[in-house]
Amino acid sequence: MKKDFKYIAMIGLLVSLAPGLALAQTKGDAKAGKAKYDANCVGCHGSGGKGDGPAAAALNPKPGDFTNAKAMKSLSDKFLFDIIKEGGSVAEKISDHGGFR
Ligand code: HEC
Repeated sequence: MKKDFKYIAMIGLLVSLAPGLALAQTKGDAKAGKAKYDANCVGCHGSGGKGDGPAAAALNPKPGDFTNAKAMKSLSDKFLFDIIKEGGSVAEKISDHGGFR
């Protein structure tokens, strides 16, 4: 009987944690993302994502402004995913955007 209770309590705990875990997954990990962004992207895209990193001055075309919702909305999620993952092969304007796998 005591064993049964433990078993039921364990299932209850899992059920109560599951939505939290699912939510964490759909929300992503902003902290880990910022660390990766700071390490790999900030030089060109700038610390605030405005496309004004120190290396951006020498680039043509310039990196876009991530905070410009209108401009970013015009790009599909697939394009954004692909340019980050695969790099310049999917970019229309530049071919040297590194891929970050
Ligand atoms: C060497 C400089 C450089 C680095 C490093 C870099 N990018 Fe870019 N990125 C650019 C440039 C330039 C463009 C504009 C490409 C175009 O318009 O064809 C761009 C375009 C993009 C775009 C498409 C939207 C836009 O701005 O036009 C996304 C999204 C993006 N980069 C994400 C990232 C992420 C995430 C990282 C780091 C993992 C990163 N980039 C690293 C230079 C860079």
